[in-house]
Amino acid sequence: MDKSKKFKVEGHELEIRNFTVDDIAPTFHLGEKLFTLNKTPNLYRVWDEYEVINFFQSDSDHCITAFVDGLYAGFVLGTLIEKRKSEIKYGYLVWIGVDQNYKRMGIASRLFEEFKDRMTKNGATTLMIDTQADNQAAIEFFKSKGFGSPQDHVYYSMKTKNHASGKSGGDK
Ligand SMILES: CC(C)(COP(=O)(O)OP(=O)(O)OC[C@H]1O[C@@H](n2cnc3c(N)ncnc32)[C@H](O)[C@@H]1OP(=O)(O)O)[C@@H](O)C(=O)NCCC(=O)NCCS
Repeated sequence: MDKSKKFKVEGHELEIRNFTVDDIAPTFHLGEKLFTLNKTPNLYRVWDEYEVINFFQSDSDHCITAFVDGLYAGFVLGTLIEKRKSEIKYGYLVWIGVDQNYKRMGIASRLFEEFKDRMTKNGATTLMIDTQADNQAAIEFFKSKGFGSPQDHVYYSMKTKNHASGKSGGDK
């Protein structure tokens, strides 16, 4: 896979490149800012440092970062899902985020295009995403990239005797 691609964006240099070990900490910290703002109790994926490390370890080809004028600006993390006894491969985009300072400059779009190219080269026939129903920016972003046919999922939860009012981690 191409290691690095450069673009001009609003007079700045945008670099889209492979995720490296040095990107683990900035990705984690940016995700902490982006994903902990949302407190609704959809915890089926939780943002923590292990989440970043696991993607990097298990599917680094589908982990991509963005830099603007050399400064860390955003990321996409995803995974190729192969179903047993099936030809179908799904490209699942799990997390995408762009630093507040660089929003609406087309950075997530460039990250997504690179993600889509890589998934296509690796045999994905369908791309999948999910996000919370009230995440309007994400919904508009994914619609602008051509995602459609939304399916409703309902999440239930119940408390166990271990329940405490403690804090929750970042969620999507
Ligand atoms: C969603 C997100 C990744 C978009 O990043 P971005 O770099 O600003 O997106 P782009 O500039 O590539 O936007 C492309 C298009 O998406 C749509 N879009 C993006 N952000 C939008 C917003 N806040 N409101 C409405 N439409 C939006 C627009 O159609 C936009 O095109 P335009 O700017 O020409 O109108 C960013 O807002 C983000 O990091 N959000 C927090 C993390 C998150 O919720 N991630 C998704 C779930 S994992």
